[in-house]
Amino acid sequence: MKIIQKYNECIGCGSCVALCPKFWEMDNEGKAYLKGGKKNPETGDWELEIRKAGCNKDAVDACPVQIIKIVEC
Ligand code: F3S
Repeated sequence: MKIIQKYNECIGCGSCVALCPKFWEMDNEGKAYLKGGKKNPETGDWELEIRKAGCNKDAVDACPVQIIKIVEC
């Protein structure tokens, strides 16, 4: 499965980092990104392949602008 975050729409709430710091970190622009992930140059989204959703499920639920998705691939 894959986590996708619409980086450009991140408002820097920080819930993802608080709930799932193993995968999420804030950058210098005050937005979150996926540690070890890749930024898609076409969409601007961050993407990371994972085996288990784990705490990323909490990040999905907590993000106030709902820009984190977990998709099967
Ligand atoms: Fe941004 Fe949502 Fe995380 S607004 S900081 S991706 S909880």
